[in-house]
Parts: sequence; C-alpha cells; structure tokens
Amino acid sequence: MFSTIDINKSTSDSTKTPVTSFDDGISPFQITTPIYYVNDKPHIGHAYTSLACDVIARFMRLSGREVFFMSGTDEHGQKVEESAKKRKMNPQDFVDEVSQSFRHLLTAMNISNDYFIRTTDDHHKKAVQHLWNTMVDNGYIYLGSYEGWYSVRDECYYLESELVDGKAPTGSEVIWQEKEPSYFFKLSAFEEKLMQYYDENPDFIAPDTRRNEVIGFVRQGLRDLSISRTSFSWGVPVPNDKDHVMYVWIDALANYISAIGYPDNMEAFEKLWPANLHIVGKDILRFHAVYWPAFLMAAGLPLPKRLFAHGWWTKDGEKISKSVGNVIDPLELTKTYGLDQTRFFLMSEVNFGNDGDFSHEKMITKVNNNLANELGNLCQRTLSLAYNNCGKSIPASIQALTEEDELLLSKARNLRSVCAEAIANQEIHKYVEALVTMIWDSNKYIDDQAPWFLRKTDIDRMATVLYVLMEVLRISSILYQPLIPESANKILDQLTVPENERSFEYIKSSPLAFGTRLQKPQIVFSRFEAENKQKKKSKKKKAKSTKQAAPIKSDVSSLDIRVGIIVKAWEHEEADKLFCEEIDIGEETGPRQIVSGLRSYYDLKDLVGQRVLVLANLKARKLMGFPSHGMVLCASNGEKTEFVEPPKDAAIGERVFVEGFDGEPATENQLARKKLLDIVFPELKTNVDGIATYKGSPLFTSAGSCRAQRGLANADVS
Ligand code: MSP
Repeated sequence: MFSTIDINKSTSDSTKTPVTSFDDGISPFQITTPIYYVNDKPHIGHAYTSLACDVIARFMRLSGREVFFMSGTDEHGQKVEESAKKRKMNPQDFVDEVSQSFRHLLTAMNISNDYFIRTTDDHHKKAVQHLWNTMVDNGYIYLGSYEGWYSVRDECYYLESELVDGKAPTGSEVIWQEKEPSYFFKLSAFEEKLMQYYDENPDFIAPDTRRNEVIGFVRQGLRDLSISRTSFSWGVPVPNDKDHVMYVWIDALANYISAIGYPDNMEAFEKLWPANLHIVGKDILRFHAVYWPAFLMAAGLPLPKRLFAHGWWTKDGEKISKSVGNVIDPLELTKTYGLDQTRFFLMSEVNFGNDGDFSHEKMITKVNNNLANELGNLCQRTLSLAYNNCGKSIPASIQALTEEDELLLSKARNLRSVCAEAIANQEIHKYVEALVTMIWDSNKYIDDQAPWFLRKTDIDRMATVLYVLMEVLRISSILYQPLIPESANKILDQLTVPENERSFEYIKSSPLAFGTRLQKPQIVFSRFEAENKQKKKSKKKKAKSTKQAAPIKSDVSSLDIRVGIIVKAWEHEEADKLFCEEIDIGEETGPRQIVSGLRSYYDLKDLVGQRVLVLANLKARKLMGFPSHGMVLCASNGEKTEFVEPPKDAAIGERVFVEGFDGEPATENQLARKKLLDIVFPELKTNVDGIATYKGSPLFTSAGSCRAQRGLANADVS
C-alpha cells in the first residue's frame, strides 16, 4: 500500500501558457470585448463575445497571469440618439438605463471583467479628444465636406458600389447623407503601412480566412474617412469646433486605451498596452483591423497584438433579428437551462471562429449528454461509491497502480498543456473537447474497472480505482473552472479540494489527501428533462381547463421506455427467482427500485453496471413484499432470457423511440385501464439479428438501436 501518489511523474505540463508571437506568457494580459451599443437590450451575440473573453481571462488568471479584462458600453452616435428619441427620453437618461442592463448581463453570466467602461464617462471623452488632437498635430486630420450612403444600424459609410439591392452588404437600410462639412482622417496614407504590418505580423488577425478578407479589402484601396458629423449632437465634441461631434467609431475604439490610463496615467497605460487580445464579431472586424491600427499609427501608439473575429449565431437556421421575432435572450437561457449549462453550450457547440446555429434541441442534447450523463454521473458514481464504501472518506490508502490507472492519470496530467495550447490560439472548442474526452475516458475506465464489483471481491483495488478517478476529477474540475465556474467548484468542494488550491499550479503539487472526510455526494447537473417535467406538469395543469391532452395511442408510443443502468442489486430474501435492483434512469429523485425474475438466467455479479431498458410508466406493485417501480425489458424464447441492451453511448434516462410511432407516454393509470401492455407487447420482438423491434421497426435511442445482449433472435420482448 502507498500513502502518497506520484502525481509529478509527467513533467510535460508546463507552468506557463504556451508562448505565441502575440503573447510572451509573462506580462499582464489585457483582453477586451467590443463595447456594446446601448440602443437595445442585450442578446445572445453580446453574451457570446463576453463569454469567450471570460473563459480566456479566467484561464489566464488560473495560470498565474495578471489579467486586465475589460468590457463596456458604446453610448454615442446616431443609432443611440434615435433609440432615445423613440423612447421619448433624453439620451443621457436613456444610456444610463440601458448600460445598466449590460452590466446586469455580465453579472448574470458570471463574467469576470475587471473594468466596465462607458463612453459617456468624462475621462473617456477627454481621452478621445486628446487622441484627436494628437492626430491633428501629426497631420492626419483635415476639414472637408461629405455626402454619401450611411447605415445608422451599422454606424458605417458605404460606397455606392458596395450596396446590394439598395441596402448595405449586411442587409441594413442605408440613408443618403446630404453634403455637410466634415473632418476627414487620412486613411489613404496608411494603405501601404497596414499591408506591411499584416505581412510582418501574420498572427495579428485570426482566423486566417478573416485575415485574408481584411487584406483583400485594404488591397482594393483605402479612401479617407469622414470622422465628424454636424447633423446630430449626441457624441464627443470635436475640440475647438462646437458644430461637430466625432464619428462614433473613433470614440468607441478609443475605449481600449482610455480605460487603462491614456493619456493621464501613461505609466499605468504602458504597463498594459498594447492589448494582447481584442475579441470581436466578424461584422466589426474591419473597424478593428483597418481603422483602429491606422488611428493608432497616426497617434504614434503601438498596435494591439492580436484580433480574433468570431462567427455569428443563427436560430434554427435563420438570421436572428427583431423583425423575425427570433431574438434569443441569454438571461432566459440561463433561467431555463442553468448558467453553466448555457456557458458550456455556447462555448462548445461551434468551433470558435465559425458561425453557429442555436436550437433548444441541440442545447438539451448537449447539456444532458456532456454534463448530466458524462461529467455529472461520473462524479456521482465515484463519490457515492467512495462515500458508501470507504468510510465516508477519500480512500485512506491505495495499492500499486496498474497500467490502466497510469494511463488515465497521465492523460489527466497532460491535460493542462493541451488546454493551454488551445486557449493560446483561441480554439476554445478544442479546450472544451479535451475536457469532454477526459471525462469520456474516465467513464470508460470506471465501466471497465467496475468498482461496484470490486467492492465485494477486492476492496483495496476498489479504493485504488476510486482514488484514481477522484484525482482525475480533481484535475479536470480545476481545468473546467474557466468554462463552468460554479459547477466545477461544486465538484471541487465535494472532493474536499481547499479553495486556495484550485489554481493550475496545484494540479501537479497537491493530489487529494488520503482519508479526508467526504460530505454526502450531491448531484451537480440534473438532466434537463427531469427538471422540465415539473414545469410541464404545472403548465399542463394550467392548460387543462382550456385544452384537452393529446389522446394516447394504443401503440408503442404509449410505453415510457428509458435507458437505465443497474447501480445496485441483491437477491430477494424470500423469493429464489427474484433479484432486487436499484436502476438509475436519470431521475432527480435517484435510482428506482425494481424487482425482476432473472435469477435463473443471470448471476448477481453480472448485474451492477449493466445497461438496460426500463419500462417506467408501470404502476408500482409489491413482489413478495418488495415494491417494484417498473420493469426491465428482456428478450425470451422460453428457453433463454437476455437483457435488451441500449447502445453504449445512449444517454441514461433518454426515452426509447420507434420511427413512425410518435406520441406522449400513457400515465400509469391509462396503461392499466386500457390494457395497453396486452396490445403492445405481442408486437415487441427481436429480429434475426437480435435487434428489438416493434412491428418490425427497431427500438431506437439517440445512439442507435437496442439489441438482445447475446443476440437472441426471434424472441418475445417484455
Ligand atoms: N459598438 C460596437 C462595437 C464597438 S467596439 C469598439 C458594436 N456593438 S454591438 O452591440 O452591435 O455588437 C457587439 C458584438 O456582438 C459584436 O462583436 C457582434 O459581432 C456581436 N454580435 C451581435 N449579434 C451577433 C450574433 N447573432 N451572433 C454572434 N455575435 C453577434 O458592434
């Protein structure tokens, strides 16, 4: 027996994030979201950009880096002025109100920004005027006059040749801006300099496709940019010319430097600038990759090190817009699915940089599979087994590790460097994938090692397996913190990891202490369906008086067949043909007790860990004094009886279906009253390949069809 574990074996797990051409891995890390227009309430796009920055900022902090993470609101310009008018409010009162809803979004999404800038802040306005004066002094601003197409929605000028069917290329309406005096920025003077900069700094703009778009745009030639307006007044006044306010993009972009001390506190400013990373949506890359570098060059300031443009979300394949009425409120998502579930979905559903499509079905599938079934179940199984069999403690000691133990542990020890590499390249999806794979491997390990059997045969080996799993869960949860901070910390609490030992440096140095007392394990992620049932129930109640429930069909859809796993089994004390089992079918209330007459066909040792199909809408009844809440489906031909098994990737708790037979399951009473089992069971059979079928169509789960365990063909299923 060992009383320590050599977690330091692997040395490949570097203590710094990988060094890139845009990050030295040492100096303070400044990361920014775009600042959000306050013309309307926050939507999924705002949540998305903020969340991506938050994951990276948290990852850097846990890596031991000093981080300055900024967000804020963009409060000037024609668009905001018009929105205030519509609400019959004066612009300042209007922006005060809407800006607050963005602050609220950040808090509600658990975004860890260090600073929130508002462009109506006094110090910001002064900083923009200073920037303007510097560009004037350097000879890059001149007075002229402007007329042309303008999109208020995009706050962007367009050339006639750029319009598509009379609209901006983004689909926004454009208006003709009558000739008015305007200051111009000499953008044309920066064409060559920008091209040279892109060339010499290939990592400046990412992903590559976006970089190519920017280069293509600049290569076409740059015209001087109109940077002031006289036809409205909601903006930062141009110094020494009270008739003009500045173009909102000069004002907005300058937030990145005004927030960190420019120009009053240059010492603070120089500590953080140039920013390491501006994360923006693809729609506003041009402003960040062309105008912003040119303004900075004109003011003699260094350029940010990296711009990353992410993609856009659509909803069920359609562009999200108020007029279509498919706007997704991120706060609603967190209320319906949970905060960490929403964070997890948005960060893992699409490769960061690509467009993504939102649907509630995808959300439910992802959070149920990756969080409830895989991560949640692994924690629950591991911690419950330890709590119930190791004296309510982390195992007090372990045996020598086997090859399988070492393999799993070494994957966990290597995880940090895999994640750090992904984060350094803003491949957030790869970071999530590495964690999900680790949990998937751990579930396979627990199934292979079957500690529930070892409990009876080799208690010391069981303790070792559980310790290995807990240690892997500790490392994974430390690394999960940036993504799902609350849930990861709940797991770390349950694993008794001290709060001050949750940063990445402790991954190697502080393995779990043997023999530490555990709290009774708590479920970390509940399956969404289970939660939803309650809501559906109360909705149904409300709807009852106005609407009849859909009629129950007399076919297989009336059966509520669920994927389950036997978590406990023992022999019935009084009936020698019966086993008593506890079967987890993903219910919040915990596993169900079910009695089955299987002792002639299976040994007790074969039961725990067995995945089965459970008929879950049967009325509970007592079998030889023991209550049974359902039935395990088996294939039998009179001679042999075998479990009907779901495929191994089917999610615990998911409902089994048969194509062409959709419908709500019957209630327990309906099932009995209408004698539905007598109607449906005769049609349930295995086919020649042992696949369970109803009227010849397979019984399906999301991972494929269900089959008799040893392929028993042409047998009855019941
Ligand atoms: N105020 C400017 C940014 C100035 S930064 C100096 C602005 N604001 S915004 O509120 O319109 O958009 C903010 C961010 O939300 C942008 O990065 C934009 O790409 C993102 N999104 C808006 N709708 C989106 C989706 N449907 N999907 C993903 N992100 C999208 O632009």
